[in-house]
Amino acid sequence: IPLRQPATARGDDLDGLRTAAASCRQCPLWEPATQTVFGEGPHDAQIMLVGEQPGDAEDLSGHPFVGPAGQLLNRALLELGIDRRTLYLTNAVKHFRFERRGKKRIHSKPQVTHINACRPWLLAEIEQVSPKVIVCLGASAARAVFGSGFNLSRDRGRWHTLEDGTRGFGTVHPSWVLRQEVGKREAAYRLLVDDLMALRTHST
Ligand code: URA
Repeated sequence: IPLRQPATARGDDLDGLRTAAASCRQCPLWEPATQTVFGEGPHDAQIMLVGEQPGDAEDLSGHPFVGPAGQLLNRALLELGIDRRTLYLTNAVKHFRFERRGKKRIHSKPQVTHINACRPWLLAEIEQVSPKVIVCLGASAARAVFGSGFNLSRDRGRWHTLEDGTRGFGTVHPSWVLRQEVGKREAAYRLLVDDLMALRTHST
């Protein structure tokens, strides 16, 4: 993927990027959302996890992966002995996209235009953190990082190398696991845990 960045993002450190992203207007998602949810974690993390977009809880709190998907992720990390505090967690799209149904806000998938508009922030985070490994949760994140040819059922768990030499892979999204019917949920969760197992050697 080409490392194109807007002038505002180029060369900034993460705190500068976070401040700039807070007033991003590069796509319409900022308007109904509560706030930009930027990435969080050590600025020199060895592992970066990339999700799709903030959900309802993340939009309200301003922090990535704090809602139900984040709790499932926590469970997987705990099981694998990976300390979440060592990871840099972010999303391909940094505003919550939703539809209103009555009082409820229902998650709606970001479109390619949203992902493309937001990509400079993600690339700038990758450049600043310079992780050894990038793990993409779900197809949207994996396409944002590894390119539009990424196919989750075919490429899940397979290592890719970016132009700058960073390695990574895509796996299923914790929200997808949560959407499975009860009888299938454990098997879906196992896919996630099995793929994330590859991180155990990188987590210190
Ligand atoms: N789902 C995501 O992809 N990211 C979050 O931060 C929360 C839920």
